Amino acid sequence: MSGAHAPHVIVGVTGGIAAYKACEVIRRLTEQGVDVTVVPTLSALRFVGEATFAALSGHPVATDVWTEVQDVPHVTLGRHADAVVVVPATADFLARAAQGRSDDLLGAVLLTTRAPVVVAPAMHTEMWEHPATRANVATLRSRGIVVLEPAVGRLTGPDSGKGRLPEPTSIADVVLQALRRGGALPDLLGRHVVVSAGGTREPIDPVRFIGNRSSGLQGYALAAMAAGRGARVTLVSANVDLADPAGVDVVRVGTAAELDAAVHAAAADADAIIMAAAVADFAPVEVADHKLKKDVAPPAIALRRNRDVLASLVEARRPGQVIVGFAAETGDAEGSVLEHATRKLAVKGCDLLVVNDVSGAEGFGSATNTITILAANGSQQAFHSMSKQAVADAVLDAIAEQLPASQ
Ligand code: CTP
Repeated sequence: MSGAHAPHVIVGVTGGIAAYKACEVIRRLTEQGVDVTVVPTLSALRFVGEATFAALSGHPVATDVWTEVQDVPHVTLGRHADAVVVVPATADFLARAAQGRSDDLLGAVLLTTRAPVVVAPAMHTEMWEHPATRANVATLRSRGIVVLEPAVGRLTGPDSGKGRLPEPTSIADVVLQALRRGGALPDLLGRHVVVSAGGTREPIDPVRFIGNRSSGLQGYALAAMAAGRGARVTLVSANVDLADPAGVDVVRVGTAAELDAAVHAAAADADAIIMAAAVADFAPVEVADHKLKKDVAPPAIALRRNRDVLASLVEARRPGQVIVGFAAETGDAEGSVLEHATRKLAVKGCDLLVVNDVSGAEGFGSATNTITILAANGSQQAFHSMSKQAVADAVLDAIAEQLPASQ
């Protein structure tokens, strides 16, 4: 973080077993130059001691409204925060926050702050799915709070399901994103964004496939940024070796046909669909059920064409849905990068095409991208050597501009 003064973030911690993971969030934020004040509830302190929070944040821990009353902490803390994150958030906390209770310091902070608030719930699946919790989450979201979807995985004890705290680093990333956006409130709340990422693999036999070099970095950055801006995000991930972004529902696929089915299933109620995945145009007609041996004549592999998922989404589009394609292009004798891309936008019929010039070193697997966003209405915006996060924000800005006003 740069700037005249370090941004100030309140990390609220509530009483769940995942409270120890808040330590990792605090550490990551302080490493990035953020000034952190920890506000644990009394039950959080039964899981992690005050000394740990004080040592990690470098500040005394604010626990109740009765300490240092002359400083009016229940008002000043919230007022001076640049962002507030609650990690983990229990079902009880969500209920109290939805009611606007302020009988502890964290409740008071939430009522006094006007900064972006990110809440990372963790609880058992039954509690997360209970209608009372659903209603509380909906209330908080309707007030502009980013409530991250919990991850699916192992819960406390032997059971597993939805309710796990997302990875602490990815929660910290959402907070850093909110700080970078300078206090702008989440503009994709209530929207469903579907992102495809990675590269499909078309099997030849049980050990071989036809694949491509897509790393999934750009698609994952888009999913993370959309969740940080408040959207419900479905990430259809094809063969990506990256940590799940916080607050995102991940659907894993292998082949183009699986990706096609998963994206269409999620698209039914989507407000925006971003096809960042590199989808194989062809797949072997036959997949051998045994490993092909080399002591035969080299096999010719007959290929069939896969459906163009992007074009099929455009055909099935519902009113107001914004559909975004990606195109990795190089110039050639037939035309420049932008000429190829303009033709592709017209052929595919999508609303936006994010054009990635891959003639140079950037593109697959690189940390930065130089892109142009072409819109069906003819507008063009160019962005040079931007981080994939910044590209993601630019693409989401372009989408937000096209989305019809929400009812
Ligand atoms: N795409 C798709 N389904 C396919 C192939 C591509 O949905 N079977 C999508 C990609 O996700 C991307 C866009 O189409 O958003 C453009 O992909 P690209 O490979 O550049 O375009 P192609 O249509 O395959 O054209 P070509 O390879 O001939 O340039």
